[in-house]
Amino acid sequence: MPLADCQLVELPRILDPRGALTFVEGGAQVPFAIRRVYYLYDVPGGAQRGGHAHRRLRQLVIAMSGSFDVVLDDGSARVRHHLNRSYIGLSIGTMVWRELDNFSSGSVCLVLASEPYDESDYYRDYNEFLRDVRNGSVS
Ligand code: TYD
Repeated sequence: MPLADCQLVELPRILDPRGALTFVEGGAQVPFAIRRVYYLYDVPGGAQRGGHAHRRLRQLVIAMSGSFDVVLDDGSARVRHHLNRSYIGLSIGTMVWRELDNFSSGSVCLVLASEPYDESDYYRDYNEFLRDVRNGSVS
């Protein structure tokens, strides 16, 4: 999926004197049923996460607390997004290489995913990913 389809999504915010509330519904704010949630936390300074692409998985990534960067690469272009708001999600489609870095202290990265965990869905080798994405094939 080209990078143009990986978009920042502004999520609903209900603001009142007691604080803010944001919600995400599968099929509404994300174009898929949410089948898994995971989160990254206690990330040490300087650590890099990600370093993979997915054959079928789609995700929405949210900086629940603090901030971090997500670098996306579709084999033709590379873009860096800085996420630092709990009401902004980054939608990532299939066949996009992602790397996460620049985590602030105490940050939490929430990921809403379209599929359960399946290691066979991963490309963990960048050259293998590049070969397939450039051929338009999924091995
Ligand atoms: P990894 O994909 O390397 O994490 P990141 O995308 O943040 O770099 O996953 C780290 C380990 O956790 C790896 O052994 C796979 C495992 N894992 C699960 O068991 N279930 C999950 O939902 C995820 C995302 C990872």
